[in-house]
Amino acid sequence: MTAAAADAAWWADAVVYQIYPRSFQDSNGDGIGDLPGVTSRLDHLRWLGVDALWLSPIYPSPLADLGYDVADHTGVAPEYGTLADLDELIAEAHARGLRVLLDLVPSHTSIEHPWFRVHPDWYVWADDGPPNNWVASFGGPAWSRDELTGRWYLHSFYPEQPDLDWRNPAVRAAFGEVIRFWTARGVDGFRVDAIDRVMKDATLRDDPPASEPFGLPLPEDYGALAHVHSTDDPEIGLALAALRDAAGDALLVGEVYLPTARLHRYVEHLDVAFAFEFLHAPFEAQRLRAVIAEAATGSAAAWVLSNHDFPRLATRLGEERAALAGMLLLTLPGPVFIYQGDEIGMTDGPGGDPPIDRAGRDPHRHPMQWEPAATGGFTTGEPWLPLTDPMQRSVGGQRGAEGSMLELYRALIATRAELTGPVEFIEAAPDVLAFRRGRHTVALNLGFEPRPLPVAGTPEIETEIGAVADDTLSPLAGALLV
Ligand code: GLC
Ligand code: CA
Repeated sequence: MTAAAADAAWWADAVVYQIYPRSFQDSNGDGIGDLPGVTSRLDHLRWLGVDALWLSPIYPSPLADLGYDVADHTGVAPEYGTLADLDELIAEAHARGLRVLLDLVPSHTSIEHPWFRVHPDWYVWADDGPPNNWVASFGGPAWSRDELTGRWYLHSFYPEQPDLDWRNPAVRAAFGEVIRFWTARGVDGFRVDAIDRVMKDATLRDDPPASEPFGLPLPEDYGALAHVHSTDDPEIGLALAALRDAAGDALLVGEVYLPTARLHRYVEHLDVAFAFEFLHAPFEAQRLRAVIAEAATGSAAAWVLSNHDFPRLATRLGEERAALAGMLLLTLPGPVFIYQGDEIGMTDGPGGDPPIDRAGRDPHRHPMQWEPAATGGFTTGEPWLPLTDPMQRSVGGQRGAEGSMLELYRALIATRAELTGPVEFIEAAPDVLAFRRGRHTVALNLGFEPRPLPVAGTPEIETEIGAVADDTLSPLAGALLV
């Protein structure tokens, strides 16, 4: 898409709200969030002011990777509802002016997907044992033996997630059909999962040992190699062009787990890619400034600070920085993604006992806290993961409460439409990150000392009551000024 067309697109400055369906709202008391539950909460999203929602996978799945192991790309998991429930969700969202994104998982399927037996040639195989040294993201070799045939198959993630072979035109055609199936039902776009894994070296060469830092956090074993052949193949354009061809104008957001400097191949075809360097950046003024400046170049960044894979922002950055992080995120130009619960400052929870996700990500996936009640208004039954702290933090408890995180998010989202133009950084005291957006100035004091405001102005929104007094920014406080 040209820069001008991207500016005109509905998603150009959109706020997209990530829903983790299992943990958003249960409608039938089985303790598992579901699609009718999402539909029943659309008014919350409308009130909050977001433009779109992204549903993490809703497809039938044996749940080895909580839905990212898809067993049918055009179905709905029975515990989440039916296709008719999804149709209704889409219709009700559209009626409220909300767009709907699904999660497209092209790099692998569940090992229980019928394709694995019906079309084995759609996957990547080796006959005589692992042909190279590739390792899986979640640890261990990236090759496992198929008991039925004795051959070895490639899996970038869990062994239950065999990788598809995107060099095979039949795979590209099959995903084209999946995309068209959903856009015909009114879906407005896709978050495209693990897209940097879709195309790998044609001759399956070994990955060399890592000789320099990758630039983003990696699991320890996995980080020992430089994944130059197992991921991010130069021929990725073949796959991306096929996705774009099927998607037409639908929004394509890439989950490309690469440093910013390596995203260009992806955003030639996708509209935007998540800014993971921003998500993982130390929360320091100089570092953030550099990371934002780099990611903002070319305006193809989808800003994000939290999702279902990493510690929640309030846990990662500290609760005392959660409001600052929210203000920074929501004042950047371009699409912004918020993860359910961040609008009430949810922290990580204790996780499952016993753990459910083998990679340890349960703590980031606890149920949404709607009301100050034992099960948080999430379910009337036994929640699949316990609630974290609904008595301390909930939508009901924060709605209308001056100075609450929820009201801060709502005010920031409402004001986004007035923020114009690119980020223009301005010089400020140490620890202060400050930039202009048109006639507005964002000033964030990330340090522990009071600091002078970088420009004179009237605070329109503050991260806390009294963030600005006598032209001074309180420690760990920020303001949007006019
Ligand atoms: C993406 C998802 C993550 C999943 C992985 C494999 O990174 O966000 O949850 O485990 O892909 O599909
Ligand atoms: Ca349910």
